[in-house]
Amino acid sequence: MSNRKAEVFIDGNKVMDLPILIDTMENEALDIRDLRKQTGMITYDPGFGNTGSCQSQITYLDGEKGILRYRGYPIEELIEKCDFIEVAYLLIHGHLPSKAERERYTQLLNRHSLLHVDMQSFFRRYPEHAHPMSILAAMSVSLSSFYEINVDEDPELEIDLTVTRLMSKIRTIAAFTYRKMRGSDFVNPRHEYSYCGNFLNMLFSSPVVPYEPNPVHIKALNKLLILHADHEQNCSTTAVRLVGSAGGGNLYSAVSAGICALWGPRHGGANQAVIDMLQQIHDDGGDVQKAVDRAKDKNDPYRLMGFGHRVYKTYDPRAKIGREICEEVLADLGIKDPLLEIAEKLEETALQDDYFKERFLYPNVDFYTGIIFRAMNIPTNMYTVLFSMGRLPGWIAHWLEWRHDPFERIGRPRQLYMGPTARSVPHIDERE
Ligand code: CMC
Repeated sequence: MSNRKAEVFIDGNKVMDLPILIDTMENEALDIRDLRKQTGMITYDPGFGNTGSCQSQITYLDGEKGILRYRGYPIEELIEKCDFIEVAYLLIHGHLPSKAERERYTQLLNRHSLLHVDMQSFFRRYPEHAHPMSILAAMSVSLSSFYEINVDEDPELEIDLTVTRLMSKIRTIAAFTYRKMRGSDFVNPRHEYSYCGNFLNMLFSSPVVPYEPNPVHIKALNKLLILHADHEQNCSTTAVRLVGSAGGGNLYSAVSAGICALWGPRHGGANQAVIDMLQQIHDDGGDVQKAVDRAKDKNDPYRLMGFGHRVYKTYDPRAKIGREICEEVLADLGIKDPLLEIAEKLEETALQDDYFKERFLYPNVDFYTGIIFRAMNIPTNMYTVLFSMGRLPGWIAHWLEWRHDPFERIGRPRQLYMGPTARSVPHIDERE
């Protein structure tokens, strides 16, 4: 809060003062909460590009400077010094876990990792070609039927339990969607593995050949999940908060809404779309200039997937880290992927092009991650499932923050109505 105010003039007459709010990073915002009451007017902001929907202490990002921090810690440092579970704990609880807290959390996650056996039958009924994101969304909301949230006695304890169940079971569900797709038997989680090792074991272990998760894959997966863990008020997180704001305390349903929002190719679904695009360029002879020209053509809906961002007007710091992880993993595994070469050439060509320069379009998080998943033998339609696993602690943290927000209200934007004015209903014989 500051003492400064912005004066609002309409047709030359001052109608009100708008308070100016200042956040901890000195960014300013106009507080328009009383605007309609005092002027009768609303604001118009499609896509909410200028709208602050809440106050938050979770993630800071500076789109001009390319900065991303979770709870004040730079993403670059978290990637190097923590594993995914420590970062999830940080987002959800607000501080990094001590050794004892870390151990207790692992025990809790292990305790809640199994899925009710009746839920397994749901997986079996999906057609083979079902997209794993549709199964993930359905199973997440189904958890609320199998693990009821009883907030009558000790709501905070119950919410804590729900959070742990979700964090642990989403991993089991994600792995089962993959096994279903492959027509393989489900593999249950095992306590001796780490969070990421366990997931890889549930994906890839076989009844006929011994399997041990590759440490390079485990390290890469930890980094990738951290990279996706939160990104303040993005589309899916806003969906989670919005569903939460309707009340009822059902975290499972809010997360399921987040998964549905994430699926879209403008959001988390872009990681799958990037690989489809790179493959297409490769199969078409590798002409990256042709792809750039198509993306610039306003008569062609084609866009460079993995490029552009609502907030970043510079290189997305996650893309920079993604590229580093990608090069490291491919080198460690001794893989030479022609799609990486195409991606690098495409990036270079686009970044030199005036169209991309003028619009500040840079690679985003999804540009390189698909190539890493590919190197780990994960099929393309699982990429957004992995993004969901990574984003889960962020969604949870925002949902919890919304619950304790003293200013929270049901999410309910207004509109400019552009439809017909009042008219009477004609009899069916008189209609055209
Ligand atoms: N390729 C070509 N042109 C683009 C692209 C692109 N990838 N992205 C934006 N533009 C152009 C757009 O046509 C517009 O041009 P003009 O001013 O001439 O009309 C201008 O840049 C601004 O674009 P916008 O659509 O108004 O920007 P937005 O903030 O509404 O959309 C975006 C952001 C990420 C949806 C968009 O950049 C996009 O569709 N990118 C491709 C999909 C993608 O990679 N999504 C992942 C986003 S990051 C991870 C995540 O959030 O999940």
